[in-house]
Amino acid sequence: MTSRSTNVFWQDYAVARADRTALLHQEPLVLWLTGLSGAGKTTLANFMAKRLYDNGYHAYVLDGDNLRHGLNRDLDFSEAARHENVRRMAEVAGLMYDAGLITLAACISPFQSERDFARGLLPPGRFVEVFVDTPLEVCEQRDAKGLYRRARAGEITNFTGIDSPFERPANPELTIDNSCRTPDECADIVMDYLNRHGLLAAPTTQTPP
Ligand code: ADX
Repeated sequence: MTSRSTNVFWQDYAVARADRTALLHQEPLVLWLTGLSGAGKTTLANFMAKRLYDNGYHAYVLDGDNLRHGLNRDLDFSEAARHENVRRMAEVAGLMYDAGLITLAACISPFQSERDFARGLLPPGRFVEVFVDTPLEVCEQRDAKGLYRRARAGEITNFTGIDSPFERPANPELTIDNSCRTPDECADIVMDYLNRHGLLAAPTTQTPP
C-alpha cells in the first residue's frame, strides 16, 4: 500500500467493549485457524461455530476464500498480496473482537509475521492459534477443489505447499492433525482447550441496565 491517510484522529465511542460484552454475556475471542489449503480449516471453523451457537455464544466465521469474494477481491496470491490479505483478515478479526464476538478466522495465513501481527492486535490470551496440521499429501489427496492437481500441472502458480511457502507456526496454542480424526473429534479438542483455559467464561462485569 503506498497511500496513507493523514490528519486523522482517533474517535472515541459512546458504548465501550465492556458494555457490549456485558450485554452479550460473553468475553470475545479470536480463534485463528492456519494451515494448508484443504487442511480442514473451514470445516473446523464451521463445526466450532455450530458448537458455540448451540451453547448460546455469538460467534462468526471469517473464511479466507469468502473474504476474497469481497473485501479482498483485489488481491492475488503473490507474497505481498497474501501479507495484505492476512493483515486485513487480522484487522477485521480485531474489529469483531471489539464488537464482542467470538471470531473463527480460517485462512492459510502462511507467514509467521502476519499471524504474529494478528495476535498482537488482541489482549494477551484472547488469541488462540490453531494449527490445522494436515500433511500436504493428505490435502493433496483430498483435493476437494481440484486446485492441487492444477497446481501440479502448472496451471496455477504460487500455490501454497507446492511453489509457495507455508511457515509452520512456531508456538501455536493447539496443533490438530485431522487426517485421522472426524470434524466432531477436532471440535471436541478445541472446545476442551477453551473450557480448560476458562476462555468461554462469562464477563465478570455487571449486567447492563
Ligand atoms: S492466504 O494464503 O492469503 O491466507 P486464503 O486463505 O485467503 O490464502 O485463500 C486460500 C484459498 O484460496 C484456498 O483454500 C484455495 O481455495 C484458494 N486458492 C486459489 N489459488 C491459490 C493459491 N495459489 N494458493 C493457495 N490457495 C489458493
